[in-house]
Amino acid sequence: MPETPTSTATRAESDIPAYPMDRAMRCPFDPPPGIRELAGRETPSRVRLWDGNEPWLITSYEQARVLYRDPRISVDDRLPGFPHWNDGMKALSTVRPPSLFNRDAEEHSRYRRMLTKPFALKRVEALRPSIQKITDEHIDRILSGPRPADIVAGLALPMPSLVISELLGVPYSDHEFFQHHSDVGLGRDTTSEESNANVMALLDYLAKLVDAKIDNPAEDAISDLAERVKAGEIDRMEAAMQGVGLLVAGHETTSNMIGLGTLALLENPEQLAVIRDTDDPKVLANAVEELLRYLSIVHHGQRRVALADIEVGGQVIRAGEGVIIDQSPANWDSHTFPEPERLDIARVNANHNVAFGYGPHQCVGQQLARIELQVVFPTLFRRIPSVRLATTIDRVEFKTDRLAYGVYELPVEW
Ligand code: HEM
Repeated sequence: MPETPTSTATRAESDIPAYPMDRAMRCPFDPPPGIRELAGRETPSRVRLWDGNEPWLITSYEQARVLYRDPRISVDDRLPGFPHWNDGMKALSTVRPPSLFNRDAEEHSRYRRMLTKPFALKRVEALRPSIQKITDEHIDRILSGPRPADIVAGLALPMPSLVISELLGVPYSDHEFFQHHSDVGLGRDTTSEESNANVMALLDYLAKLVDAKIDNPAEDAISDLAERVKAGEIDRMEAAMQGVGLLVAGHETTSNMIGLGTLALLENPEQLAVIRDTDDPKVLANAVEELLRYLSIVHHGQRRVALADIEVGGQVIRAGEGVIIDQSPANWDSHTFPEPERLDIARVNANHNVAFGYGPHQCVGQQLARIELQVVFPTLFRRIPSVRLATTIDRVEFKTDRLAYGVYELPVEW
């Protein structure tokens, strides 16, 4: 680590690696080797993005936690220097209504408070029986259907989609519409035109739903937002934007955790057996934390921009420079998680993972996601104890090109 902070990158431009980096597909659960190499330097490194922007990449667990909480770091994607995911996201930054995803400080807290009620632990915990029922029904269908069965289409995608639809008050009959648009929105190569049309379609859909809930409120999150519109606290499009964010974030991520988590457990049968055979909720909760740490499915980093000069790990990040906090290497930081490449569901500090981020923007839906995962894994392995991969792992197609890592299909036999 340098003794004195340096203000600019000293390496030649050609040394700056492109980001995101490719994984070594013989180790599909590991962060990319290039990222692990940068993580070994223990100081932020510059990386080059699709548009030539060269933000700082944070790979250390401690540095990630410090920066996540630093008020001098912004999520406002309209600011110059912001490290955009792709052209589509960049184009959207100036046109989409504000939301908790892209606002800081007081403005962010205001949006966030609106979600306190629907995502309160008690309300989410009350969904557990319904999550169990949905999971059981989908496993019934898998068991009575043809073999091999695809765990993604049969369970991992529909279960969280149904749950988030129920929580938000979005008709599940529209799932093909919102699953398709989420899929387009999270792709790496989505163009600005596609991104714009995509978000507009989702916004239009949610805005109409907000209107309907103003007239006929129910016990759901969109009705809560509609109530705020009625009270004049937010406008209709702002409410629709929060709804879009929740709908997309609420099913894609958990779905990928189920698909990829199932594969990781099938590859680690002794760990799978513990999950299958225990009745202890604490063991299951810890197993889920370890899977979240091990897989870090939000794998292309949280994007930020510095509002002031900030020193971190012996490096000064200048105001206006982009910052990417990459959870995959942070969750594999051996100073915090010894032998990080080992999936160990009994790991004592697994719950210190930053898979849901950390600080003010930490995931709103984390308790919901935890409950879904705590239900789905033991249920699947108890109800289909002989479940096994119906192909070899090298033939599984991974979502390397999407904001959330996962598998496209997971064929299983039993
Ligand atoms: C395993 C599943 C999930 C993972 C791994 C995950 C991960 C994340 C991460 C990494 C962030 C960004 C944190 C940051 O920028 O500091 C985030 C934010 C967010 N997530 Fe999740 N998430 C999951 C499930 C959900 C669910 C089920 C919902 C519910 C609707 C949800 C809603 C949100 C929202 C609204 C935010 C924005 C919070 C803010 O900026 O204040 N997520 N999530």
